[in-house]
Amino acid sequence: MMRKNILVIGGTGLVGKVILRILEARNPDYNLFVGSRQLGKTANDLVIDVTNPVTFDCIVHNKIDLIVLCTKDSGNEILQFAIKNKLGYIDITKPTPDLTVAYDLTKANEQKIESQIVFSSGWMGGIVGSLIDFMESDKLKIHEANIYIYYSVKDLAGKSSANFLAENVCKPFVVYKNNKPQQVKHFLNSEKFNFSFGIGKRQTYNLDVPDLFILNQIEKISTVSVKMTYNSKLVTSLMGYFQSLKIFNIMFLRERQLLFSSSGNGDQTIFEVIIKTQDKTKRVSLQSIKGQAELTAFSTVLHIEKMLNETLASGIYFSHQMHSSQEVYEALNNYSTINLKITE
Ligand SMILES: NC(=O)c1ccc[n+]([C@@H]2O[C@H](COP(=O)([O-])OP(=O)(O)OC[C@H]3O[C@@H](n4cnc5c(N)ncnc54)[C@H](OP(=O)(O)O)[C@@H]3O)[C@@H](O)[C@H]2O)c1
Repeated sequence: MMRKNILVIGGTGLVGKVILRILEARNPDYNLFVGSRQLGKTANDLVIDVTNPVTFDCIVHNKIDLIVLCTKDSGNEILQFAIKNKLGYIDITKPTPDLTVAYDLTKANEQKIESQIVFSSGWMGGIVGSLIDFMESDKLKIHEANIYIYYSVKDLAGKSSANFLAENVCKPFVVYKNNKPQQVKHFLNSEKFNFSFGIGKRQTYNLDVPDLFILNQIEKISTVSVKMTYNSKLVTSLMGYFQSLKIFNIMFLRERQLLFSSSGNGDQTIFEVIIKTQDKTKRVSLQSIKGQAELTAFSTVLHIEKMLNETLASGIYFSHQMHSSQEVYEALNNYSTINLKITE
């Protein structure tokens, strides 16, 4: 069999590097390429600027089979290139507004799609869908899904990650209640939540993640919400005050970028998903000791392996739609730095 050629664009960034590390350790037979705007040292380092399609020629020259997109491609240049050249594509970078644009664009070209186009921008590389599926495979039975995120400012965060909140914190976004879209804002509508893994009770606040769109519009769960807390209670309540007093509105973008750009030396990340059916409430709790980059990268690697190893048909996927949820659950559960538990 021919070796598979995989290109990670943004492969020199925080998440891209970890994806490459885990891919290499688990699949020595893959031929890995690194794409970024910087000239690298080896023939497997490709100079690619996602905003400049002229730089994409090297993707064809090097016979890339699959592109992993780990840098924001607002113009969807790489997506269109992958569709046109029939290359596998997986993207972990799109905030909700960008995801809906990319999804609509892809749907409009559905007839022309002869490769796997995978959207994996949901929380932590899009594993929430699989975890929900594992708890209750009949989605029609689920009338509510609530995600709670524990976000440590001491965790490692790439430069690009700060931009989403900086750019969007003042803009309203949509959550779903009984299938009715409701406009909310980040850091408002606080709710107390009792986190597992020794964290305890915290105030949690609205956060826009693509799972809102995916779980309601694609999975048809009628009520979906996402709330987050920072590791520091002080920081969390300050963000709440800033939003309710409209302080974010009078800040410059540059100032908001500084505010949201904290990155430490590494810390754990936790998230929990509560689903409600007619007669039951179930909860899945996930802790990644090594933090967000490791968890996102590991789930992305599971998706890549699925795209390459199985006889997965061409088409458009949200990453959880490719998997058996049992397999994803077991892979996460067996990973040394991930703790998982399900309670009823
Ligand atoms: N779905 C999830 O759960 C999840 C979780 C974490 C992060 N993310 C997303 O993943 C992305 C990467 O995050 P990160 O923390 O790894 O960021 P990062 O450390 O800032 O890395 C960004 C990478 O992209 C490259 N890059 C920047 N602009 C580029 C361009 N125009 N063309 C080609 N390459 C370019 C950078 O290299 P050069 O500057 O040298 O070009 C670098 O390799 C972000 O969009 C983030 O929001 C998603």
